Amino acid sequence: MSLLSITGVSKSFGSLKAVDDLTLAIPAGEVHAFLGPNGAGKTTTIRMISGLLRPDTGTISVDGHDVVSDGVAARTKLAYVPDEPYLFERLTGREFLDFTARIYGLDQKIFAERLAECDGLFNLSGFWDRLAEGYSHGQRQRVVLAAAWLHRPKLLVVDEPLVGLDPKHIRVALDLFRRLATEGGAVLMSTHTLATVEGSCDRVTVIDKGKVIAHGTVAEVAQGGDLERRFLEMTSG
Ligand SMILES: Nc1ncnc2c1ncn2[C@@H]1O[C@H](COP(=O)(O)OP(=O)(O)O)[C@@H](O)[C@H]1O
Ligand SMILES: [Mg+2]
Repeated sequence: MSLLSITGVSKSFGSLKAVDDLTLAIPAGEVHAFLGPNGAGKTTTIRMISGLLRPDTGTISVDGHDVVSDGVAARTKLAYVPDEPYLFERLTGREFLDFTARIYGLDQKIFAERLAECDGLFNLSGFWDRLAEGYSHGQRQRVVLAAAWLHRPKLLVVDEPLVGLDPKHIRVALDLFRRLATEGGAVLMSTHTLATVEGSCDRVTVIDKGKVIAHGTVAEVAQGGDLERRFLEMTSG
C-alpha cells in the first residue's frame, strides 16, 4: 500500500485551476521529489495533503487514511514542513518543540531523548532558549524540521525545505529524509535544487500548470541526460 495516495485531485481558485486531475502514489521506502516552475501547483497540492486545503474533486490518503473524512488519523501519520517556517515568535525554539510534542502526546521521557537527538542533528542548543522572533531563516528551518521529526511521522511532506539552510544542514536534512525512508516511511519534497534531486531522491514527479508532465526515476525523467536541462526543456512552454 502507498503511504501517500493522490487520485484525480483538482483544486481551483476562482477561474484558475491550480491543480488539475493530479494522481500520484508514493510507497514506503521512497524519497520523492516534487518539481515544477513557480506557480505549478506544488504548494497547493502539499497543503491539500496536510489538510489545510480541501480538494474540489479527487481523494488523498495518508497511510490508508483519507485526509478529509479521516483527517485526524491521517495527520497523526504525517508531518508537514511549510515553505515559510512558522514558529510562535514569543516562544523559544525549545518551547515550540515542547508544544509540538504535547500536541502529538509524546511522553516527557521520549521527548527529552528526541530533543537531545534533534540537537545533535540540527545544532539547536546554541539558540533554542532565545525567542524565535530573533532567529534567522535557516535557524527557523532547523527548528521546524526538528519539530517534524519529533513524532516519527510515516510520511514527511516538505515544501522547499532546503531554502535558507547552510550546506551542512542541507546534508543533515537529506540524510534524515533518507533515514525516514529506510525505516519504512516516505518523503515528498518540493524543491528547485535539481542537483540535490539527482543524488538524494528515488523518483520524481514534475508538474506544470497543475498537471503531471513527467514521472519516474531521476534517470527516466532526465532521459539519460542532465535533469536540469530536461526540466528546462519540459517547462519552457
Ligand atoms: N489562496 C490562493 N488564492 C488564489 N490563488 C492561489 C492561492 N494559492 C495559490 N494560488 C495560485 O495557484 C497557482 C499555484 O500556486 P502554488 O501551488 O503556490 O504553486 P507552486 O508552489 O508550484 O509555486 C498559482 O497560480 C497561485 O498564484
Ligand atoms: Mg510553492
